Amino acid sequence: MSRLKTAGRPYDLVLFGATGFVGELTAEYLAAHAPDGLRWAIAGRSEEKLRRLRDRLTGAAPAPKVGMLVADVSDPGSLRELAGHARVVATTVGPYVRYGDALVAACADAGTDYLDLTGEPEFVDLTYVRHDARARETGARLVHACGFDSVPHDLGVYFTVRQLPEGVPLSVDGFVTVSATFSGGTFASALGQFARGRALRAAAVERRRHEPRLVGRRVLTPTGAPRFAGEVGAWALPLPTVDAQVVRRSAKALDRYGPDFRYRHYAAVRRLPVAVGGVAAVGALVAAAQVPPARRRLSARLAPGQGPSAERRARSWFSVRFVGEGGGRKVFTEVSGGDPGYDETAKMFAEAALCLALDALPPVAGQVTTAVAMGDALIERLRAAGIGFRVAATR
Ligand SMILES: NC(=O)c1ccc[n+]([C@@H]2O[C@H](COP(=O)([O-])OP(=O)(O)OC[C@H]3O[C@@H](n4cnc5c(N)ncnc54)[C@H](OP(=O)(O)O)[C@@H]3O)[C@@H](O)[C@H]2O)c1
Repeated sequence: MSRLKTAGRPYDLVLFGATGFVGELTAEYLAAHAPDGLRWAIAGRSEEKLRRLRDRLTGAAPAPKVGMLVADVSDPGSLRELAGHARVVATTVGPYVRYGDALVAACADAGTDYLDLTGEPEFVDLTYVRHDARARETGARLVHACGFDSVPHDLGVYFTVRQLPEGVPLSVDGFVTVSATFSGGTFASALGQFARGRALRAAAVERRRHEPRLVGRRVLTPTGAPRFAGEVGAWALPLPTVDAQVVRRSAKALDRYGPDFRYRHYAAVRRLPVAVGGVAAVGALVAAAQVPPARRRLSARLAPGQGPSAERRARSWFSVRFVGEGGGRKVFTEVSGGDPGYDETAKMFAEAALCLALDALPPVAGQVTTAVAMGDALIERLRAAGIGFRVAATR
């Protein structure tokens, strides 16, 4: 299906899960920044909540510019209708492994571009196996991980690679530093992930069975080992998040990453006791997530819909530093911004949605990363919105 075929749909963009914590921040961002003439709507399972949100966004205008659609993940018909009404659907309804599959299916089938905020590798692998082929047939772009997972990392590596020579082996290390806290929705997704180790590995194996082999080039994302990284003056701890997987897929899809590409993903921590404490805390959380009663008690501590206050978010920040090397050149780059989990996630998510809806982009379809689907266009949007992409030094 060509993009022209979706052009006559009622909405350019529909935001599903608009009444959740990140959903509301994204809706507010769109209300403040969407260009005049964008036909967009908020969607969710509660008409009452949607109406209240729309009144807040539009000042209860008699003929509001923001549309409203009611849909529930337990009703596949409502998701098909949602997908058929939009050119682009952006969803915050997570944990995605529990709630997400039917909407991806509906978008792949309808040729509707889809984006989400998942950081769940199992979900990304399952949707690849189930829906990539159909999306390629219909022309739908399925873009996962359009928040702090994994935009700064995926686009940061893309940006770094473009500072290095072409056609030579390249290596990039990424060092993530954040000062922030998280919401109930994120906490629920993380706990769910920790409890699903076996399912996660099975989904990865299934994906490898379906994925074409890379011919004539090599892309590696080794885990790396904890070390003191003199180049950034911090302790580097391997970070086994979805980010390195996203970077790997971008590197496989884009020849610009060179014939032999390696990426390693780390958390950067200045003081050794903080590094040791962080590893111990995550280990304890992973262990607790394996025991259902402990998992339930932990979940109850932070309910869905709750998250950090505006004051706390205003004090939060992130920085991802990259060290890239190849062809006799070394480059130091940085992607940075404010509150990573919410304010900046909402910004990245909204800008990615606008980018898919409005910008001239490469002709790709199926499951694609932010670098592959949007690359430079999204970097330009994010820069204009205040997220830093800079070259700190070259040698
Ligand atoms: N990539 C990142 O960096 C990043 C950052 C932040 C969050 N996230 C992810 O984004 C997701 C949302 O986080 P959040 O903090 O906003 O969570 P949340 O506040 O719990 O919001 C979840 C949304 O899902 C909706 N929902 C739940 N069940 C539904 C159903 N049956 N049908 C339709 N909608 C349903 C909720 O609707 P109601 O409003 O009606 O309850 C709500 O709008 C999570 O998966 C989280 O992990 C990712």
